[in-house]
Amino acid sequence: MRLDKFFSSQKILSRRECESVLKKGRVAVNGLTVKKGDFKIEPDKDEITLDGKVITYQKYAYMLVNKPIGVVSATEDGRDKTVLDLLPDEFKKLGLFPCGRLDKDTTGLVVLTNDGVSAHNALSPKKHVEKKYYFETADSYSEEDVSAITAGLELKDGYVTKPCKIERLGENCGYIYLTEGKYHEIKRLFGARGNKITSLKRIAFGALTLGDLKEGEWRYMTEEETELFCKAAK
Ligand code: URA
Repeated sequence: MRLDKFFSSQKILSRRECESVLKKGRVAVNGLTVKKGDFKIEPDKDEITLDGKVITYQKYAYMLVNKPIGVVSATEDGRDKTVLDLLPDEFKKLGLFPCGRLDKDTTGLVVLTNDGVSAHNALSPKKHVEKKYYFETADSYSEEDVSAITAGLELKDGYVTKPCKIERLGENCGYIYLTEGKYHEIKRLFGARGNKITSLKRIAFGALTLGDLKEGEWRYMTEEETELFCKAAK
């Protein structure tokens, strides 16, 4: 397959965009910079990189971003920067969307994909995909708070939350593990106990972890991560 065809088949670059990216020396095949669109490759054998990041030949795209504060979990926003704006422009036409939402003032792991079925399933409470968050609270929280929150409690709108887990790290910080993702859930859980979340960061989404991905950075899921994400969602 021609290299430019590979990029357009992956919906990453049009032929014209591909030409310009190739000219700039941003593409490598098996570690060697390639500047010609008609260069022949074997998509499932050769390692193709764009700006040093390996492009895995696949039907759908799966990426991870570390969302900073102030960025919104949406595909478009008239005012704020979105999680998609953290990716290079070439990826805009892939039809990616965030798998679940983090609040504007929450940081951490967001999955971006265009695989609607896996995303839908990964978010379904029935699949019990656990999301891990680091939190800090304004006031210290008690063991009674932990028992009430982890058992599941009734929020102001009458919704009763699913049981969850809390791992205490200090007087006013810890990890919380949820298998559902209701609007402002963690803030409302602590709010229901008269406390306030002052910092929230998603550390893990099922088997996917933030690792050393810095705020504002993105990367492709590895093949193993993609498999785990899609399998967990089945
Ligand atoms: N719960 C919240 O309150 N906010 C988030 O961003 C995620 C979970």
